[in-house]
Amino acid sequence: MSDLGRTITLTVNGERVTRRVEPRQHLIDFLRLALELTGSHVGCEHGVCGACTVVVDGEIVRGCLVLAVQADGAVVETIEGLSERGALADLQAAFHARNALQCGYCTAGMLITADALLRVQPDVDRAAIRSFISGNFCRCTGYHAIVDAIEAVARARREAAKESAGR
Ligand code: FES
Ligand code: FES
Repeated sequence: MSDLGRTITLTVNGERVTRRVEPRQHLIDFLRLALELTGSHVGCEHGVCGACTVVVDGEIVRGCLVLAVQADGAVVETIEGLSERGALADLQAAFHARNALQCGYCTAGMLITADALLRVQPDVDRAAIRSFISGNFCRCTGYHAIVDAIEAVARARREAAKESAGR
């Protein structure tokens, strides 16, 4: 660690974390290397592929484009935390049921992105799903099964919301 290191404190998956980091270290490397949260992946390292997608203060970001020091004071959620609290359980089940993953390299980022879409746009159609996930590259599946899975969850979430509103 150089003299330029800086101490940051942030909340990651509900736990407060304080670490000294290099100013140039990206958030995704901090999460993977310092905290051993390796569920999010690193692909292109320049903001194109979406493999490094995580949630910072409620918004999806590319962990390779954010410096760890910029996340000082933030609330960060990764695939590990989101999975543990069941936030993605329906999407995970749908991806599994429809073979929407093969190697799995894109999957953490894809699930987090899909969940972000369904939270802001529950009434989404296939074209909107394709457009929203266009920044998340999958080199294996051809995307069709991914869109099927997200569409099925969108429908199920809408039905569940309708049911609970009618009670
Ligand atoms: S590794 Fe961050 S967008 Fe590709
Ligand atoms: S499942 Fe292999 S990159 Fe998407």
